[in-house]
Amino acid sequence: MKLEELDRLLAEKNLAGFWTGNVTGFDQNIEPSSPAVPYLWKWADIYDGLMKARELVNLAMSERRTLRLVNPGLPEKLFATPTIHISVQLVRPGELARAHRHSMTAIRFVVKGSGAFTTVEGERFTMRPGDLILTPNWSWHDHYNNTEEDIIWLDGHDGPLVKALDVIAVEMFNQRQQPIETIPDFSLYQYGMARPYETKPNFFDPPFKYSWEQTYGSLRALAMTEGDPYDGVLLRYINPRTGGPTLRTFGCEIQMLRPNERTKSHRHTSHTIYHAFAGSGCTTVGDHDLNWSQGDCFTVPSWQWHRHDNLTEDEAILFSITDRPLKQSLGFYREEGRPD
Ligand SMILES: [Fe+2]
Ligand SMILES: [Fe+2]
Repeated sequence: MKLEELDRLLAEKNLAGFWTGNVTGFDQNIEPSSPAVPYLWKWADIYDGLMKARELVNLAMSERRTLRLVNPGLPEKLFATPTIHISVQLVRPGELARAHRHSMTAIRFVVKGSGAFTTVEGERFTMRPGDLILTPNWSWHDHYNNTEEDIIWLDGHDGPLVKALDVIAVEMFNQRQQPIETIPDFSLYQYGMARPYETKPNFFDPPFKYSWEQTYGSLRALAMTEGDPYDGVLLRYINPRTGGPTLRTFGCEIQMLRPNERTKSHRHTSHTIYHAFAGSGCTTVGDHDLNWSQGDCFTVPSWQWHRHDNLTEDEAILFSITDRPLKQSLGFYREEGRPD
């Protein structure tokens, strides 16, 4: 029998030899790689799209008025990276994005507009620029804009991962808006530095808000320290319950690049998506120079050398989402600095 004949015979039975097909042969050194490409989405394009959708799309025809950031390297044309989905949402004055919950874990990072609120598991969180709000998986959430101005925020979630694991689930609340069940800032009291002792294990992450005032105060104070050689002054949003990464499937971070700060180059097996919250700069990923300014978003795919430059006399602030917690918990995380 010839080998081609065996291959054909096996294929008829839906079997395949290790020696055939496009499966990697493991007979050579292989570096991690991703079909995702470094990419920059300009705020002017995002905002223009949102303004047009503002007139053309209402919340009766679309559950949410959001624009997805689509990585042109990924086959599905749905996500910004293979594990993280980012979109930008606009809610007009008087609009209610009705209550639902899902198996995706989500965050909101407020970009523009002030005073609207999102309710998560019965707790109302007022939204101001720079605030980060956690919507852990399977928590009820709805958004209501009771102000006179539009509100715009980034929605990040782990949809690509949840989809790959075949565990997408969504449930609609039995009313359009969930009732308020706690006093304002309840989660801050529950998970503050003085907190009740947990007597039984709690496997669920709580809703939580990290206010911009607090975050920016920390950035400013820590700007006097040496900082990180690869990231400048970088803060990780810590999970209020566990003290670990922001959430189990992804982490949120914020960093300040001080005037004229130029970081060293490193690479890691996590994907990162950035949002330029303030200032401007350049992030070099491999051969690509991503020149960003306020409002832009960009992605640095896994295992690509990258460094950040603030070329101005003003501070620059980048908010980011990384799948490092997921990769670390599974033992897939590697990181290395580029030799000088
Ligand atoms: Fe949702
Ligand atoms: Fe990095």
